[in-house]
Amino acid sequence: MRAFGANLLSIADLGRDGILEILGRAEELRLEAPRGGVFPGRILGLVFLQPSTRTRVGFHAAMARLGGTAIEITETKVQPGMSQPESLVDTIRSISGWCDALVLRHPSPEEFQAAVESSNVPVINGGSGCEHHPTQALLDLFAICRRFGRLEDLRIGIAGDLGGSRAARSLVEALAHFSPRELRLMSPPGRELPGSVLAGFDGARIDVRHDLAVEGLDILYMAGLPQGVGDARLDEVVRVRFRLTRARADALDPGALILDPLPRIDEIEPEVDALPAAGYFAQSREALFVRCAVLERVLARESTVLPRDA
Ligand code: CP
Repeated sequence: MRAFGANLLSIADLGRDGILEILGRAEELRLEAPRGGVFPGRILGLVFLQPSTRTRVGFHAAMARLGGTAIEITETKVQPGMSQPESLVDTIRSISGWCDALVLRHPSPEEFQAAVESSNVPVINGGSGCEHHPTQALLDLFAICRRFGRLEDLRIGIAGDLGGSRAARSLVEALAHFSPRELRLMSPPGRELPGSVLAGFDGARIDVRHDLAVEGLDILYMAGLPQGVGDARLDEVVRVRFRLTRARADALDPGALILDPLPRIDEIEPEVDALPAAGYFAQSREALFVRCAVLERVLARESTVLPRDA
């Protein structure tokens, strides 16, 4: 049976009201600290065809907190753990038959979409190509709300390989609903956000820069630079220019918040971790409640949608 209409594939699937609903529920769950009971017997499939720690294990933990269970699949086609090589579409058809929802990560947007279309149950996007990472954006917004008590009228800087960062893109798409006072986008040349991502910012002050400038910000979001090889690997001179050193962090305004989607590569020096501004490990820890809220939304809807086919 195929359920449809309850996927969470991008920030556009939520809109402002959906974002606020999830963040409000996450705050309730943070205070309740649930430990089982809501979804006994429900199964979440974690299909991660690209490496992940926080999203994969974080959703596993969130499902356990809600009383359900999770299964993890991290291999497909010709990987050694498969009985026989098979297509991703066939793998998803099989796995989704045993689950109530899937969290899916895939490096290719096209293969990701094909997998979504072959699923019998709702899909939560756990990261697709360079384009979407909506649950990361939600937990980023939750961290901002927790520190500032609001999402609107903030001075927000985002630094790193913005063109290659699905976390940065989804965060910017989400921020379009909350009228930042300033959006400062800092990337090496050629690594800027695509203009289409900025379409929702009518009249907002957007500053595109090719250096790391931290003064006058409420929030500094360190999206990081790729660790890859060849063309994807940026020269060390560039990496140093975009690294938040302890000395640079000292130039942040009092009360500023540093966020990072993690994993950290080299974009923040470990010496910054002890500063009051360093919010990235709290951001990661409290993401648990955002993931619980996302699961509640998707699984509650899943139980009410009509089957499309057998
Ligand atoms: N931020 C994030 O998506 O982390 P993982 O790659 O560890 O899931």
